[in-house]
Order: sequence, then structure tokens, then C-alpha cells
Amino acid sequence: MIPCTNCIYSNINRPEYKPRMKMFKDFSKTHVSFLTFILGTMTGFLISKWPEVGSLSWRTDYNKPDIAKAPRSDVMILTPWLAPIVWEGTFNHDILMEEYQRNSYRIGLIVPAVGKYIKLLKKFLESAERYFMKGGMVKYYVSTDRPDEVKALNLDIKRPMKIIKVPEYSDWHQAVMGRMEVIKNQTELLFHKELDYLACLDTDIVMLNPIGVEILGEMVGALHPGYYHSPRKDLPYERRPISQAFIPEDEGDFYYQSNFFLGTVPRIYQLTKACNENIMKDRANGIHAKVDEESHLNKYFLYNKPTKVLSPEYIWSNSLGSPKDIKIKRVNHGDKPFKKDT
Ligand SMILES: *[C@@H]1O[C@H](CO)[C@@H](O)[C@H](O)[C@H]1NC(C)=O
Repeated sequence: MIPCTNCIYSNINRPEYKPRMKMFKDFSKTHVSFLTFILGTMTGFLISKWPEVGSLSWRTDYNKPDIAKAPRSDVMILTPWLAPIVWEGTFNHDILMEEYQRNSYRIGLIVPAVGKYIKLLKKFLESAERYFMKGGMVKYYVSTDRPDEVKALNLDIKRPMKIIKVPEYSDWHQAVMGRMEVIKNQTELLFHKELDYLACLDTDIVMLNPIGVEILGEMVGALHPGYYHSPRKDLPYERRPISQAFIPEDEGDFYYQSNFFLGTVPRIYQLTKACNENIMKDRANGIHAKVDEESHLNKYFLYNKPTKVLSPEYIWSNSLGSPKDIKIKRVNHGDKPFKKDT
């Protein structure tokens, strides 16, 4: 054989090198398809998680707001103390989501499931999984007197859930009153470390449509769907001066539902602490407020105005029909397989 100077190159064509070349070709083919696969999967994942991906990839296109055009003319959208009232048609979810993404707020959803109400928990949580704060960082807290029954429910949820053990209450009224104390205690123990916002909802709610970041605020109450058109004299406030929940006849803005309220953790702490103290004082005086903890919540909101108010869309009940101003029913509240007072 003639020694050559170009051995490296000429050797490539020698038979003993052929198998290695083939191997290299195969490897590179596999490599390319593997990379394509990974890139494809990542793109698919990013598209599927579109709103959840950081704000860098989140861009919102929308028309400029027109100052001469009210978003709704059939309902009040701002309270006299300038807190927004959230109705369908008054907000742009994408703009709010963009702001949310920038701050990555941690949101807790606490729901009491005591006694027979455990039966309703599965439907509640599975609907929350689907509709509550889509794209948000949500953690569920279930306060219950029977943790084992909750664990046995086989819940189809992916978000984290924590079970909070509470005492067994003698009846439903004591249980709803006790809720304020449970939330107050857990705010001191847990929520101040784990959360920015806490939403407190009841188990007998089934979400039917999205409930998103538009509800977030410092302290947020929901208009009771049964009384939002009622005159002051018909609102079921506690009118007996002997109760701590007392509201004089000539006072009261709205009547709020206690089955849906939320706020930042410090504000929820103040609210539940105040309500719990008043409930305790009433108890010491042998008084039970007209509508349980709801009376106390209404008293609190009268003198500590909510910074945002949710329209009855958020706590609607199918039994109330379909009035014109309810453009969307975000929940059905109050369907029970048993009577409330048992
Ligand atoms: C809340 O905390 C107080 C003080 O630590 C305690 O006495 C009370 O039993 C707690 N209540 C509940 C319902 O956990």
C-alpha cells in the first residue's frame, strides 16, 4: 500500500470504517427524532398551559377602554365607597390574569365539611378543580370533624389539599358559628405562612362557570342573591340591640352572603377574629344572632367596608330562576340532599 498524507480522509472509505459510519448515521437520525420529539412535547405542553406560563409569553390583545361607554347600565358596578362590584361584562379576565401572573399570588380555598356535609365535598372540590382560579396556584383546606371520611372520598383533584381537624359540633348552627374561629386559628398557624389570599366557601356550592382572579381583593364580600333588590327594611339584619351583630334600622348598605367571602390573609384574620369575638360575647349573653355567623359578617362589613363586592352571580342558586341582570350563573348554591336544620 502506498502511504498517503491524507490518511485520515482516505481511511474513511476503507471497509473497516464503514460500520462505524453507519452507526454514526443511525445515531444522528435517532438523535434528531429524539430532539424533535422533546421540542414537540414541550411546545404542546406550553400551549396547553398557555395562561399558566410566565408573563413573558403571555400577551393580551384588547380594545382600548372607552371612557364614554359604561360596561353595564342595568346594575350598579361601583359601591358608594368606590369598591367595584364584579358582574359579567365589567372586566377583562386576560388583563387581570396578566397582573396575577406577575405576582404569582398563592390562593387558599377553605371549605368546611362537617357531619353530613362531607357528602357534598366531592362535588364541590371537583367543580373547584375545574372552574376556580384556572391557572392560579390554589391549595384546598378542608376543615372537618371526620378526617377519615374525607380521605375515603377518593377525590379526583390534582391541587394540594390539607385536612384541618375541627371539634364535633352539636348542630349545624354551632358548626357555622365555629367556622370563624377555625379560620382565625388557622390563619395564625398556617395561612400567614402559606398564602396571600384566602377564600372561604361553603360545601353546598357547585361551580358551573369560571371564577377567576377577578374576585381577588383585600376584603371581598358577595351580595346575597335573595336580597340584592330588597329595600333596607326587608334585609334580615340582626335588629336586636342585645346582640353584638345589631344593626340599627336606618343603617345597612347591602346584605352579604356568608357562604362566599375572601381577602388577603391579614384582612381575613381581622374579620374572623372580630366576628368570633362577637359570637363569643353573644354566647356568653345567651344570644344567638338571627342568621348565625352571617349576621356577624354583615355587621362587620357595615363598619369595615369591603374593598370589592361580588355580584350574586357568584353565589347564585338555581331555585331563584333566571333574572335579566344575572348574565351568567357561576355557581349553584344550596342544593341539598337533606334539610339545612337537621
Ligand atoms: C382556637 O385557638 C384557641 C386558642 O389557642 C383554642 O382555645 C381553641 O380551642 C381553638 N379553636 C378551634 C376550633 O380550633
